[in-house]
Amino acid sequence: MAILRVLLPLQIAWAFSLAGAHDLLGSREARLLRALGLPARTPASPKSGPDPPPVPPLLWKLFGRGNRTEDPEPCWIEELRVPGNLVRVFRDQGAWMSPPEPDRWLCLQKRLYFNLSALGEGERLTLARLEIRFGRNLYGASSPGGPFELSLYRPSGLALRGLTAHPYSRRLLVGQSFAHLHKSFAFDLTEVAKEWRAPARNLGLLLEIAAPAATAEGPACAGIDSFLEASLLAVSLAPAPCRRGRQRRGLHHVPPAGGHVCKARRLYLSFGDVGWENWIIAPQGYMANYCVGECPFPLTEELNSTNHAILQTIVHSLDPDGTPQPCCVPVRLSPVSILYYDNDDNVVLRHYEDMVVDECGCR
Ligand SMILES: *[C@@H]1O[C@H](CO)[C@@H](O)[C@H](O)[C@H]1NC(C)=O
Ligand SMILES: *[C@@H]1O[C@H](CO)[C@@H](O)[C@H](O)[C@H]1NC(C)=O
Ligand SMILES: *[C@@H]1O[C@H](CO)[C@@H](O)[C@H](O)[C@H]1NC(C)=O
Repeated sequence: MAILRVLLPLQIAWAFSLAGAHDLLGSREARLLRALGLPARTPASPKSGPDPPPVPPLLWKLFGRGNRTEDPEPCWIEELRVPGNLVRVFRDQGAWMSPPEPDRWLCLQKRLYFNLSALGEGERLTLARLEIRFGRNLYGASSPGGPFELSLYRPSGLALRGLTAHPYSRRLLVGQSFAHLHKSFAFDLTEVAKEWRAPARNLGLLLEIAAPAATAEGPACAGIDSFLEASLLAVSLAPAPCRRGRQRRGLHHVPPAGGHVCKARRLYLSFGDVGWENWIIAPQGYMANYCVGECPFPLTEELNSTNHAILQTIVHSLDPDGTPQPCCVPVRLSPVSILYYDNDDNVVLRHYEDMVVDECGCR
């Protein structure tokens, strides 16, 4: 409801902005951004630089089912089987290492680095999954002697230049062999990523791919570096109300004619109108709605009132000046998911409770 209290003034701010009151719009926008826990952006300046990364299919899938009102368990992500209301895809910012020595049949050596600073302090990380994808097929068949070997190391401390490859300065996290490089690989790094959140503890990872058997020209996987892609899928629980056991209510019955009786009115909130279309990927807006109307005596059942509101209308009918009518307020709200780019161009899916007014009532 706190969010809606912010949304409605925003609607008013749009009307003002037509008259040029951009300062007002700016401060309303800042409040809305804060309320939504979204990064501050200057709406006037479109994103610059290279194209942002594409939205991973899993996020589209999660987004597609994000509006469900009757979520069996709010703040639970069934596809990943973890609790969470925020899903981020961190892009890899690690550097390539100098070309490997020819005799080791290393296809590639690369640092992987994910800047997790976007994770808020109050957020509980529930899943971190490293995903490595290869943009095209590379079959082990071309290296008859054996499969590819993928190793993931964790630097165990800061090392001087040139020492990082020393076996004692790194710890093997994952070692896996596979016959083909034609699919994506995922590794659970939840515990490692939790440690990365501590100050100065994130030294990233070192990825090595080797092909022990080689053709005459060198490792069978030469050139692989041009189509490798790594990202970290992180799920967290942001301190937002995760309502358990959402109350089920009957279908909304439109109150009897009269026009001014308390009910939900349509309000479409367009992100484009506030200049957010550059970084909010989806939706482009949503039907937020709002409540307005009278709560007259006698309150009918459709007005979904409390005993207190019923008594208040009785008192109001006897003493209209001394006691106000009950208020027409949202009594049932549903969630919305928003897919957006954060300031580091990571793709984020965030689930917000109580964004859409489904039903109003007199309270
Ligand atoms: C991580 O990102 C934050 C915020 O974007 C930035 O201030 C910080 O310098 C980054 N850290 C590294 C090591 O890149
Ligand atoms: C969720 O809501 C948004 C905005 O109202 C809409 O664009 C999207 O299609 C909805 N998704 C589903 C699965 O209903
Ligand atoms: C009003 O709320 C009560 C529970 O508080 C529920 O039983 C009833 O079905 C609701 N009526 C409408 C019209 O939503």
